[in-house]
Amino acid sequence: MAATRFEYVRNFEQPTTLLRNTWIVVRLDGHGFHRFSKEHQFAKPNDVRALHLMNASAAAVMREFDDIALAYGQSDEFSFVFRPSTMVYSRREAKIITNLCSLFTATFVMQWPQFFGSQPLSYAPSFDARAVCYPTIANLRDYMSWRQADCHINNLYNTAFWALVLDSKDPKTEQQAEAILRVTDSAAKNEILFTQFGINYNNIDPMFRKGSTLFWRKQDVEEVSAKTGQPVVRKRNVLATEYVDVIGESFWKENPHLLSRGKQRE
Ligand code: GTP
Ligand code: MG
Repeated sequence: MAATRFEYVRNFEQPTTLLRNTWIVVRLDGHGFHRFSKEHQFAKPNDVRALHLMNASAAAVMREFDDIALAYGQSDEFSFVFRPSTMVYSRREAKIITNLCSLFTATFVMQWPQFFGSQPLSYAPSFDARAVCYPTIANLRDYMSWRQADCHINNLYNTAFWALVLDSKDPKTEQQAEAILRVTDSAAKNEILFTQFGINYNNIDPMFRKGSTLFWRKQDVEEVSAKTGQPVVRKRNVLATEYVDVIGESFWKENPHLLSRGKQRE
């Protein structure tokens, strides 16, 4: 197409590219989910439907962008980790974060009825997105640990907070619960949960305590052979969702392929 006299305006664009050879972490976070969760009567402190919907939306993102090594989600946020070798959208920041964020949000809206049944979505949810580059595996692992530690701290607080407020025998106001918890460390919160409510925090659903980690792994899958019509076992890349500790060593030792800098999926 012939150039027009208007085309020079393109030169005003300022593309930002993300530093090469670094891990790119894109984190999405629900906008105003305090209100959104109230408006849609999310269970307190954790709504299983909402968390599974977040995971399904993250899975859609991972199926679309195959340079993502793993993803980690908790509450209203999800982080996606691209390998250092990725050249997705030539590492253009705006392209990467806007496409991830809109695909995630669109899937969240489309799949809402699968998780919330007849309860309608009463207004459109939105998510913000940012990208951060981490040069080393140690930085990346510290990032993952940071998010999981955040999950733990918030979840322990919220579990104790709502136990106090929703207590059928002696309900506290939100202000009273806040005042009680203000002077507690994590051992004291565990103690309140156990002695006053019979809740052993370690027995709470690991999805709530640990958050959700999504990653590809090779797994034996039983299939029917197209040639023979007989069942056969084949190694396939399967998208796993686990509620595991990502701060310690064992997850990374069991899944060393996640920290390889190049692409692993075939
Ligand atoms: P911005 O992210 O700054 O827009 O604010 P926000 O209102 O989204 O708060 P933030 O991201 O800091 O925290 C997420 C909020 O979502 C929590 O404080 C809760 O109010 C709410 N939320 C997330 N997951 C759940 C859930 O499973 N159950 C309930 N009841 N609330 C949830
Ligand atoms: Mg939020």
